Amino acid sequence: MFTKRIACIGAGYVGGPTMAMIAMKCPQYKVIVADLNKARIDAWQTDSLPIYEPGLLDVVQAARGRNLFFTTDIAGAIREAEIIFVSVNTPTKTFGEGAGRAADLQYWEKVAREILRESTSPKIVIEKSTLPVKTAQTMETILNAKGDGVHFEVISNPEFLAEGTAVKDLLEPDRVLIGSRETPEGLKARQEIVDIYANWVPAERIVTSNVWSAELSKLVANAFLAQRISSINSISALCEKTEANVREVAHAVGMDSRVGSRFLNASVGFGGSCFKKDILNLVYICESYGLHEVARYWESVITMNEYQEQRFVRAMIRAMFNTIVDKRIALFGFSFKADTSDTRESPAIFVARKLMEERARVVITDPKAIENARHDLEGAPVEYAEDPYQAARGAHAVAIMTEWEEYRTLDWGKIYGSMEKPAFLFDGRNILDHKGLYELGFNVYPLGSPAYRHF
Ligand code: NAD
Ligand code: UGA
Repeated sequence: MFTKRIACIGAGYVGGPTMAMIAMKCPQYKVIVADLNKARIDAWQTDSLPIYEPGLLDVVQAARGRNLFFTTDIAGAIREAEIIFVSVNTPTKTFGEGAGRAADLQYWEKVAREILRESTSPKIVIEKSTLPVKTAQTMETILNAKGDGVHFEVISNPEFLAEGTAVKDLLEPDRVLIGSRETPEGLKARQEIVDIYANWVPAERIVTSNVWSAELSKLVANAFLAQRISSINSISALCEKTEANVREVAHAVGMDSRVGSRFLNASVGFGGSCFKKDILNLVYICESYGLHEVARYWESVITMNEYQEQRFVRAMIRAMFNTIVDKRIALFGFSFKADTSDTRESPAIFVARKLMEERARVVITDPKAIENARHDLEGAPVEYAEDPYQAARGAHAVAIMTEWEEYRTLDWGKIYGSMEKPAFLFDGRNILDHKGLYELGFNVYPLGSPAYRHF
């Protein structure tokens, strides 16, 4: 009764939400999401989903058991489907050639080999994971290695969703990108994937290209976004020296329609599982083609991000009279951005570690990410508190690490009253009313504008 059978290998931050959206929007298709992580698959079958993403549970509930299924039977999912999305992780390589920069494609290649082993009928294999440009060529080589006449077409359909807004991004994407070979078989497969998205995405937002452009566009999109943050963060350092205010500068610059206003919020640094790894990968690819100047250019985006994280901690120590030994410091937020429990590459990890190196007593509060924080800082002498008021009690300083909306509306007078004096507030996200907090008694250190100090 289903008109298409779609499988997705990898039930993570991308595989789960994207397939749930396809299943909700296309009841005529059967969608099977497979992963070797049983705990994750089990969680997708409950109402405590394995990832926190606003609105996602409603999407999953609309389709689960109807045409959306979660399983650890990867071989079965491959056999049943004619269209297979592969959405496994592609982290930075930690060993051997290209360690610390190149993408580790071992998970991807394992899946390709499993698809080859299990397939007895033609399949369209879709690169949903972010991959180095030219990976499709390797995939085609592996998939066509058996030479038994089963045809595989490799399509690149990178995902642009951001965590915390995944449901909205999937419902109303700026664009969906589908790249294929420009052969008759390639164009036919491309059309099949276009048809899936056309169920809810307007035609003008479905962009097609050759397969290499699609692969490369994903890396470049992340590099451009991260570059904007590094650009404004570099200016935040200059603002602090010159009494300019980075929020005012970003506003004035962003109003130029050629620049645009988004992704110009200065911060303690960008985090997340992808920006750093994708830029490192871009750098590695440029190096491997001998494009050293291009590689250095993009590498500087990461250098600036690391500088911003270090600068933030140094400023904290300097402000607190050059020693934080035994001082209780409360980190408000641990996820890499608001509205997610994900802490991968969160600047808060770096900040927490550095503060502990200086022998501060670190306490962490976060509405969704405490479990992941415990994992990231396993073994470290950190206190965790669900309640931000509890975290701040007796603290010398509060540092805002994540722009959770609820931090804007806390009773900051009550927090000030419960802290050691002088009380410090470091706003790593520039989300609070700095002057108002100063008037309550805090010594306030925003990013990219002068501090408000009582001494
Ligand atoms: P993730 O780690 O959350 O999920 C990957 C899943 O793949 C895991 O559950 C893992 O168990 C599974 N897996 C690994 N090897 C497998 C195998 N051989 N068989 C079956 N399952 C296997 O990763 P993610 O954040 O969903 O990212 C996946 C890809 O999408 C990456 O390439 C990433 O760069 C890209 N991406 C991520 C985001 C994001 O917001 N997280 C956005 C766009 C693109
Ligand atoms: C990012 C991209 O926005 C997505 O398009 C892409 O699909 C995804 O990476 C990916 O490939 O994984 P994500 O990392 O989920 O999405 O979140 P972003 O909203 O991009 O934020 C990344 C980091 O930059 C966060 O730490 C955020 O706080 C920080 N940021 C963002 C700033 O510091 N300033 C800003 O103005 C915007």
